[in-house]
Amino acid sequence: MKQFCSIAEILELYEQYGNEFYSEEITQTSHALQCATLAQESGATDELVVAALLHDVGHLIDLAQHGSDTTAFESDAKHESIGAQSLAKLFSSGVTAPIALHVDAKRWLCATNLLYHDSLSRASAASLILQGGPMTSDEQLRFRSHPQSGFAVKLRNWDDNGKALEPPELNFKKFAPVLERVCLK
Ligand SMILES: [Fe+2]
Repeated sequence: MKQFCSIAEILELYEQYGNEFYSEEITQTSHALQCATLAQESGATDELVVAALLHDVGHLIDLAQHGSDTTAFESDAKHESIGAQSLAKLFSSGVTAPIALHVDAKRWLCATNLLYHDSLSRASAASLILQGGPMTSDEQLRFRSHPQSGFAVKLRNWDDNGKALEPPELNFKKFAPVLERVCLK
């Protein structure tokens, strides 16, 4: 199980694999930067900005370990748990819990908001099935009882909106100071 021990290691991973495609149209780094920028623009805490930036780090870990032949869009790779666990030495649950819950947040939103369900991108609709589909009522209750579920839903909204084809010119390292501020080490 991958465990990051420094911010430099995370920056290195995005440097190496961030140009791989997140979807048919945008790269992992573009998506991460757009989500973190949306979080910042909405006045989110540094912890949530870092959660938005790194919420798909599990995909990059998968790319580093298995290459780009298989992706999370083709199999349920549990990228949200792999990502959250990989960051546990460096960040508190204020960062890792919304990451761990961002797929559940999508399943919750799909169960409670038909418009949301219909607005999913093609890739997101395809992965929903592999992720378990919309939540059952029991699952919804369990999800909402988690203290970080509200933050996970916020993260999910930035995730869904951080897919513009022509994002602003941004460098991943621009967020290094925020990562350093939130880091536990
Ligand atoms: Fe995402």
